Amino acid sequence: MCGIFAYQGTKNSIPLLVDGLRTLEYRGYDSAGVVGVNSAGDVFSQKAIGKVSNLATKVEKHKTSSIYTTGIAHTRWATHGTVTEANTHPHTSENQRFYIVHNGIIENYKELKKSLSQKYHFYSDTDTEVVAKLIEDNYETDLKTTLEKVSLLLTWAYSLAVIDVEKPNMIVGIKLGSPLIVGKSSNGVFISSDVNALASVAGSYATLEDHEMVIIESWEYQVYMSGAMIRKDAQDMDIEYDVDELGAFSTYTEKEIHDIPSVLENVFQWRMNFSDMSLHNETLEELFEHDIDRIEIISSGSSYYAGMIGSYMIKDMAAIPVQVTISSEFLADIFLPDDKTLYVFLSQSWETADVRESLKIVQAKWCLTFWIVNVVGSTIARLTDMGLYSHAGVEVWVASTKNVIAQVGVLLMMAMSLWLKRNLQYSQARALIAELSELGSKIDEVLVQWPRIREIAKKYTKYQSMFVLGRNIFYPVSGEASLKCKELSYIHTESYSAGELKHGPLALVSPEFPCIVFNPEGKSYIKTVSNIKEIRAREGTVLGFVTKWEEQEDLYDDIIEIPKTSEIISVFTSLVASYLFALYLAEELDRDVDKPKNLAKSVTVE
Ligand code: AGP
Ligand code: GLU
Repeated sequence: MCGIFAYQGTKNSIPLLVDGLRTLEYRGYDSAGVVGVNSAGDVFSQKAIGKVSNLATKVEKHKTSSIYTTGIAHTRWATHGTVTEANTHPHTSENQRFYIVHNGIIENYKELKKSLSQKYHFYSDTDTEVVAKLIEDNYETDLKTTLEKVSLLLTWAYSLAVIDVEKPNMIVGIKLGSPLIVGKSSNGVFISSDVNALASVAGSYATLEDHEMVIIESWEYQVYMSGAMIRKDAQDMDIEYDVDELGAFSTYTEKEIHDIPSVLENVFQWRMNFSDMSLHNETLEELFEHDIDRIEIISSGSSYYAGMIGSYMIKDMAAIPVQVTISSEFLADIFLPDDKTLYVFLSQSWETADVRESLKIVQAKWCLTFWIVNVVGSTIARLTDMGLYSHAGVEVWVASTKNVIAQVGVLLMMAMSLWLKRNLQYSQARALIAELSELGSKIDEVLVQWPRIREIAKKYTKYQSMFVLGRNIFYPVSGEASLKCKELSYIHTESYSAGELKHGPLALVSPEFPCIVFNPEGKSYIKTVSNIKEIRAREGTVLGFVTKWEEQEDLYDDIIEIPKTSEIISVFTSLVASYLFALYLAEELDRDVDKPKNLAKSVTVE
């Protein structure tokens, strides 16, 4: 959700800012803008609708010989105001002295704008512009005290970088709720929304906490809290953010799907010993020393579906109740803290505002918390009791695929760890561990089918709506598959319990309203076949993700074959097959697969 990047130093900031935005573009790509100021106070400003590459083209076309040693830049995911050049950041004060970029939502912007409108003219519909006018309205002697005063007027969620053209060697940053990181290099100081954008330019970095302010002046920076300077320890830049080249793949999303077999090796490596068929993980073993009789998983989007899938595994293996809560529905006023419940926070980015706010609610009641996050170095690791990285590697683009598989892998290990602790048949656990050692090759069996999956996907691009169905653990599998189809192809797909269809939604089924059904061999195979027959009796079109199809060919119009394995393993292979199907739906419809419209990789607003 919105990427902020800023620089103050000895070099021309403009190219550095555009490069920073390219790395931050996953956070939103509705529009982008940059403002630079040189030592004389001359301003260079460019904005462009759409992707950062459009801004880069305009910057190149209008570049001058001047060196703008101070600058701020922004790639936008619109929350307030449509996608227009006027709404594109940076935003400015009426006197065009102050320029700001903002990530977040100013929840009280309407009342602020109402009072400011008596003095100032607003050119945009954004909440951000209100802050620029507030700065001008409150400015007396300096930007530091002004921002301290303005921050007290704002309600929730902002990270800001601000420049004053009359102080061209200074940038002030402040944050509450949205991320802000300061990076130091030999030629200047950067501000960024995430550490990845600093990886190639800064030698050290420090993550700002809420209410902290950073003042960059003449290539050095100081951090303040409530007006007082504080000591802020910087970390050496140990993040290597080299987004691998695409190679033979046409999109990063496709590449990340094909990375899944190697991702699973990372997930299970050092945690699962495939030679002696054992599972050893100190974190999980320590975790389950606690007296836990219930688990609640809190997450959003694909991480929510991963949590749902994992909950079936944990309930089945460990025989304890598991609730999965959508983080935006996790509400303080109905939260009933329980000291025997483990609260698991599941997030790829650990930037999802809904999940982060849920953690605060749980921590306020001193409950036992556990995180499963992919981005190494996330602040979550400092905030909670214990956690495990999902080790999916850098997942760059919007549709989460390899990380979902990794999350399910970690939740499966959690289920097995609890299972073993309750000394359930170790031989069964060993059999599953033996199957998991073959999981990568089973997923390869799906991946090599991509030409056939693409052909089938092509046939389904003509439909406006589709049901995506499953029973038992394949119900949340259908939810994740449906989300992928929606966010990549923009076709309306609706996940539904296969057993529930007959209780109303069956009325929609027809040859033009197909059903995609996940029905590998497993606990619900026979009952799902019955549900498919109910669809076929109404001439519904059916695409099956199935293992045992020889005897059931009359049930399906099209089949995507899943390798014959145990049900647990077919959860992974079904997800991967659904990712390829969604990918090719989108490619056949000429969608921008890596940057789907209206979306962003991490949603840092509630
Ligand atoms: C998944 O493909 C989507 N991009 C989105 O639903 C995502 O899973 C969700 O925003 C949660 O993100 P997180 O895992 O980083 O918290
Ligand atoms: N609320 C600001 C806008 O709509 C920033 C949006 C964001 O952080 O995604 O421009």
